[in-house]
Amino acid sequence: MTHDPLPATATGNPAIAHDPLPATATGNPATTRSPLPPARQPLLQVEGLSKEYSVNSPWFGRRGVFTAVGGVSFSLEKGETLGLVGESGSGKSTVARCLMQLERPSGGRVLLEGRDLTELSQRELRPLRKVMQIIFQDPYSALNPRMTAGRFVADPILIHEGRQPRQALEQRVRALFAKVGLDSSHIGRYPHEFSGGQRQRICIARALALSPRLIVADEPITALDVSIQAQIINLLQQLQDEQGLSYLFISHDLGMVRHICHRVAVMLRGLIVETGSVEDIFNDPRHPYTQALLSATLEADPALERGKKRVFYTGSPTGWQTAGYMKEVSAGHFVREETPVP
Ligand SMILES: Nc1ncnc2c1ncn2[C@@H]1O[C@H](COP(=O)(O)OP(=O)(O)O)[C@@H](O)[C@H]1O
Ligand SMILES: [Mg+2]
Repeated sequence: MTHDPLPATATGNPAIAHDPLPATATGNPATTRSPLPPARQPLLQVEGLSKEYSVNSPWFGRRGVFTAVGGVSFSLEKGETLGLVGESGSGKSTVARCLMQLERPSGGRVLLEGRDLTELSQRELRPLRKVMQIIFQDPYSALNPRMTAGRFVADPILIHEGRQPRQALEQRVRALFAKVGLDSSHIGRYPHEFSGGQRQRICIARALALSPRLIVADEPITALDVSIQAQIINLLQQLQDEQGLSYLFISHDLGMVRHICHRVAVMLRGLIVETGSVEDIFNDPRHPYTQALLSATLEADPALERGKKRVFYTGSPTGWQTAGYMKEVSAGHFVREETPVP
């Protein structure tokens, strides 16, 4: 699998480039990644996943039900990056938590290598937690302030594999630090001694500790300086090339999604409204919401930006969560069609 790393400066380590992103992160990259050929069994298959929360209704203090995710389906191949995009509150993080079984979904199935996680008990899930890991947006709150970075990275190894000979454990932690571009002399430091980018590297090292096959990255670069974002993205791509990792990459940065993803799913109010290859979504968006989302991104070229027509999405005429289905408009490119209300 090939892809271009973000450009590295002459002084930067090309593997983990120390360069800022191009002036706008949303500029058109020269190349995009093509979807991978589907395998006989995808690594992850999500079918009709839904999540409802019980909430206080404003009416007479009665309890109501809020549907955060209304039935989403997608699959993820080995070595593939699927971008999940959509405005804040569209249900992306809820999908992530339900995939990881950090929260139990209200309906649907989550098949990891063919096994339905929603049917497994917490105990049965434990060994599978090695296979999939999650990285969160905020590397500041993810770290335990009272744990050294080394201990934090070693933690999942100790939890899943029990006590280890000290030297062997240290060696593994040192190797993990090297893998994410951190100096192993920092192993004994505490979180407050690290920058945001370094903290996210520590979180990635911890996520890698048990050699997962799937990483759910929920806005992993949103909280970082623009100059650091490219470093973390390059690191994630490098790890994918080395280890064949699959990523569900949740982001609202469409430029970044275009650069690193093979396929994209667009979420709106708890539903996927369009999914397809990066080419399909960026060059031939069909759903009015996708068109609006794309028109709101900045072009790198000021002339293009000035000439661009902004599209606004005013909502579905039939209201959301009416009956609908995904129509295949070209091979692998699906758009949600609403069935008209009689
Ligand atoms: N525990 C909860 N109880 C009630 N509503 C929730 C809960 N968690 C999330 N939500 C709601 O679900 C919707 C989707 O949230 P979220 O998945 O965090 O969106 P996103 O990650 O796309 O910004 C939001 O409207 C949010 O307020
Ligand atoms: Mg979120």
